[in-house]
Amino acid sequence: MRITAYSVRPDEEALFAAAAARLGIELVTTPQRPTLDTAHLAADSQGVSVITTPIRADLLAVWRGYGVQAVSTRTVGYDHMDLDAAGKLGIRMSNVSYTPWTVAEHTVMAMLMCLRRTKLVMRRYEAQDYTLKAVRGRELRGRTVGIVGTGAIGCSVAELLSSFGCTLLAHSRSRNPRLEGLAEYVSLDELLGKSDIVTLHLPAVPGSEALMNAQRLARMKEGAILVNTARGPLVDTDALIDALESGHLGGAALDVITGEGPVHYRDFKGKIPPVRAMSVLQAMPNVLMTPHTAFFTDEAVGDMINYSLQSLKAAALGEEDRFFLN
Ligand code: COI
Repeated sequence: MRITAYSVRPDEEALFAAAAARLGIELVTTPQRPTLDTAHLAADSQGVSVITTPIRADLLAVWRGYGVQAVSTRTVGYDHMDLDAAGKLGIRMSNVSYTPWTVAEHTVMAMLMCLRRTKLVMRRYEAQDYTLKAVRGRELRGRTVGIVGTGAIGCSVAELLSSFGCTLLAHSRSRNPRLEGLAEYVSLDELLGKSDIVTLHLPAVPGSEALMNAQRLARMKEGAILVNTARGPLVDTDALIDALESGHLGGAALDVITGEGPVHYRDFKGKIPPVRAMSVLQAMPNVLMTPHTAFFTDEAVGDMINYSLQSLKAAALGEEDRFFLN
């Protein structure tokens, strides 16, 4: 069985090789992204592993012509995959899961860094300014944190924060029993009005776009911090910039941002990145920006590769797999 893996980074190569050997897969890896120009690299492959590049109908049709039966994204989110088109072409689509602690720990780190004004402290240190001007922080202990979205990552964040002595509020479409005795489920309005920190852990699905719009940002407490390690489109970026510029919000930590696709994971040193909001936010001393790295640990990357190849193998053999999306 032959599988082609696209957008393979050097740090993934050895893990891919080991997983392919274990699963008896003939593997072709390429650092190139999957596009119409690179579609031929998957010729004669039964499965294709991709990461964040949009996978649209035209590309799927070309792959189908090459004999591709299944496409797996090495991500939890699959908003970049056209499931309808894949269904019509008879292509099986799948995603993966990975340890939720990776994103949960990054989220808590981002909260602490915002509260302790670490970006400003480190910028000052770089400039050999060791004064204490405007860098006095706040403790996480005793803060009220609002968790929006209580799936595996939201619950892991809650469990970590409970050991910090935070009061936890939660809002989600359905209640997760893991939060029993740990967090109180409330309406989104109440959560926004009472939380010192609001953290988002929802997928980007129709209806969740601009969940944090101008009205909802205005409902947040004066000086509160917004953390988004989920998906960029959940936040109206312009409204967030307004809320930070007016001083209503005390800070933000963004691992994701609308329009990040052509920017994140590329080197723009000495160039002007095409998403203006990124430069505006990066200039703010109270905004922590990271390029969608909350997922990036040894543990998570191993899971991503193993589950992606396992699910492609299952699809090619006509077996079941828990990650099939269609
Ligand atoms: C995901 O797995 O959904 C992520 O956000 C990580 C990724 C885009 C590399």
